Amino acid sequence: MAPLLEVRNLKTQFKSKDGVVKAVDDVSFHIDKGETLGVVGESGSGKSVTAMSILRLVQNPGKVVGGEILFEGRDLLKLEDRDMRKVRGKEIAMIFQDPMTSLNPVLTVGRQLSEPLITHLGLTKTQALKESVDLLKMVGIPNAAERVRSYPHHFSGGMRQRVMIAMSLACRPKLIIADEPTTALDVTIQAQILELLEKLQAETGTAVMLITHALGVVAGMADRINVMYAGHIVETATADELFANPRHPYTMGLLKSIPRLDEARRGRLEPIKGSPPDLLDLPKGCPFVSRCEYALPQAETIRPELRQVPAEADGGRSEHWIACHSEVKMGDPPVHEAQEVA
Ligand SMILES: Nc1ncnc2c1ncn2[C@@H]1O[C@H](COP(=O)(O)OP(=O)(O)O)[C@@H](O)[C@H]1O
Ligand SMILES: [Mg+2]
Repeated sequence: MAPLLEVRNLKTQFKSKDGVVKAVDDVSFHIDKGETLGVVGESGSGKSVTAMSILRLVQNPGKVVGGEILFEGRDLLKLEDRDMRKVRGKEIAMIFQDPMTSLNPVLTVGRQLSEPLITHLGLTKTQALKESVDLLKMVGIPNAAERVRSYPHHFSGGMRQRVMIAMSLACRPKLIIADEPTTALDVTIQAQILELLEKLQAETGTAVMLITHALGVVAGMADRINVMYAGHIVETATADELFANPRHPYTMGLLKSIPRLDEARRGRLEPIKGSPPDLLDLPKGCPFVSRCEYALPQAETIRPELRQVPAEADGGRSEHWIACHSEVKMGDPPVHEAQEVA
């Protein structure tokens, strides 16, 4: 079956006086109907720009300069603006980190929930308002029939994010792109919002692209995970496989830096040393080379392409790809130590 979304060789760049920032550099991936794809990587790795490229919302001086974005087989990059607006309103919905940036402060949430229902689904005002109440109930907002008349600032951060989720679900989209939907929230509220998203997804069959800088957030929810680094996908695998058998040194670093209740107190948390490369001046070889404990000499000069590696999870049936020259596994000694031993 053809995937719901297929991104092929996407390149998105920002022109500045200092040169061209390659924010997304030849990225390919797909999302199947109903599945959850996690997209993980440090801040600045190109996650949001990937999402904005899909929705054609990249603003000047940014521009999609190459690739295809096939949604149900149609290349979104080739649609007329009018058709693209329909896709954004109805087929693909977006949830941002800060709901206040996407909610209109001077309109009641009922008005805002109703608007797309009237425009895209042809409901009457009365029908749309009733549906809005149902949507608010669906996302667990108490006293929905009254709250529908409230303004965004009357809601707490967590409740506002629930309103955003209600809005995203309003037209029953086939794909929801959630960009750091819980990053601004307290830890307990974070968990509630993710649970809600998961429950609603199960009920509606919507696919979700869940973007986060925290691997822990996607652990329980994603079917598959893309790990991004400096505008590239460096590892992609099913979630089970990625956690059981991480193969890219960057992913291993991310895993080691996840706080775990049992380990945090023993002080084993290790942030990845160093910082990401300058996107204006990417190294010729592997973008991670300067921070990598396992870098082989060719990583300095040859950019590793994604290649399939044997999977361990699910009896080896999982898909697993890495963009790395090395064959290391989590816990292997760093390269210079291994050489001393040999
Ligand atoms: N408006 C912009 N102008 C210039 N460069 C930008 C802009 N937005 C993003 N970038 C560049 O794109 C890179 C990726 O950004 P983004 O996708 O937002 O990262 P994240 O993974 O944190 O979501 C940034 O590191 C930055 O260099
Ligand atoms: Mg972002």
